[in-house]
Amino acid sequence: MSVIVMKDISKEYRIGQIRLNALKNINLEIINGEFISIMGPSGSGKSTLLNVIGCLDKSSSGTYFLDGNSVETMNDNQLSEIRNRFIGFVFQSFNLLGELNALRNVEIPLIYRGIRGKIRREMSEQALEKVGLKERMKHLPSQLSGGQQQRVAIARALVGNPSVILADEPTGALDSTTGNNIMDLFTQLNEDLNMTIVQVTHEESIAAYGKRIIRLIDGEINKIDFNGVLEGKK
Ligand SMILES: Nc1ncnc2c1ncn2[C@@H]1O[C@H](COP(=O)(O)OP(=O)(O)OP(=O)(O)O)[C@@H](O)[C@H]1O
Ligand SMILES: [Mg+2]
Repeated sequence: MSVIVMKDISKEYRIGQIRLNALKNINLEIINGEFISIMGPSGSGKSTLLNVIGCLDKSSSGTYFLDGNSVETMNDNQLSEIRNRFIGFVFQSFNLLGELNALRNVEIPLIYRGIRGKIRREMSEQALEKVGLKERMKHLPSQLSGGQQQRVAIARALVGNPSVILADEPTGALDSTTGNNIMDLFTQLNEDLNMTIVQVTHEESIAAYGKRIIRLIDGEINKIDFNGVLEGKK
């Protein structure tokens, strides 16, 4: 089953008279259970592509189906609903709420979904257990290491059982050992729970954890590698 099907997706930004094609005719299909890394030089459109996949941003043209739902036809309310239901986001800077403990941070997407009290707490505890942080549930972000904070963010991304986890440079703020530990966790979530993961990274060693590497240059897919094997220009 395809989680993501993009056909001829383009994204144009306009600032005054200037037009910039951040994405050009992207054709991409991502199947349930894949682990994908997106690479490319700064400004090549990686974050733009991830934001379009995550329905944070709309394409200018083309068609995009997320878990069978046609995204272009949706209004803002429908888009936030689809984000909440189908997408788990992980950011470079963790984006945790500083005044809430780990458990409360993980509960946030479930609050938006209207899941109440005990069930919400249980689901959040389970998500924290999956990332190895059950013992740190009551800690505030400031009482956790960078790697632990990113694990809380991953638990928050997981808790609603999304169709795909999207991570924009998830190891960018971490030292290499901690970064590799986060990649081991992604690998475990991908292999054991069949989570679909799409991550953006600058580092080849981090990208190598993905089973498919999509390389962008200047808003276009330049090539796609399968476990380091060249598939050819797309
Ligand atoms: N909101 C915006 N308005 C106008 N132009 C934008 C906007 N967001 C991104 N761009 C432009 O689109 C292009 C792609 O940007 P994007 O952020 O996707 O690059 P990136 O590959 O993620 O780069 P980096 O590795 O530096 O994060 C860049 O030229 C950028 O300047
Ligand atoms: Mg970026």
